[in-house]
Amino acid sequence: MSLFDSARQVRENAYAPYSNFQVGAAIRTKAGDVFSGCNVENVAYPEGTCAEAGAVAAMVAAGQGDIAEILVLAESEVPITPCGGCRQKIAEFGTPDTVIISANPREVVGRTTLGALLPSSFTSAHLDGAS
Ligand code: THU
Repeated sequence: MSLFDSARQVRENAYAPYSNFQVGAAIRTKAGDVFSGCNVENVAYPEGTCAEAGAVAAMVAAGQGDIAEILVLAESEVPITPCGGCRQKIAEFGTPDTVIISANPREVVGRTTLGALLPSSFTSAHLDGAS
């Protein structure tokens, strides 16, 4: 299944009764497999999770850890991009070249890279030398 179809399909299962903003995300790993996730909100609002976090968790649960590209899909006038926290989550398993694609349920509307969205990010290199 394509990244687009995977994200569009999983978005149907998004649990977003508070924001009514349903999001689907699909990751293609360097191994070529696709993992998807949707946002899951909670009545205790900060406990909600983003679609990208779900897709990352599914990828890791399957024993994989190298993100080649991720597509995020929502009904939005402005092309959706991962929130700041999710950019950091993607960085854990990606590189500055990791492709980030924005889509609505009808078409792809944007394409960028993690390096463009999260420059000068915190990495394990910053931990090196810590006592
Ligand atoms: N959301 C995502 O799932 N991914 C994003 O990239 C942005 C925001 C969710 C979180 C919340 O459930 C809803 O969209 C509104 O912020």
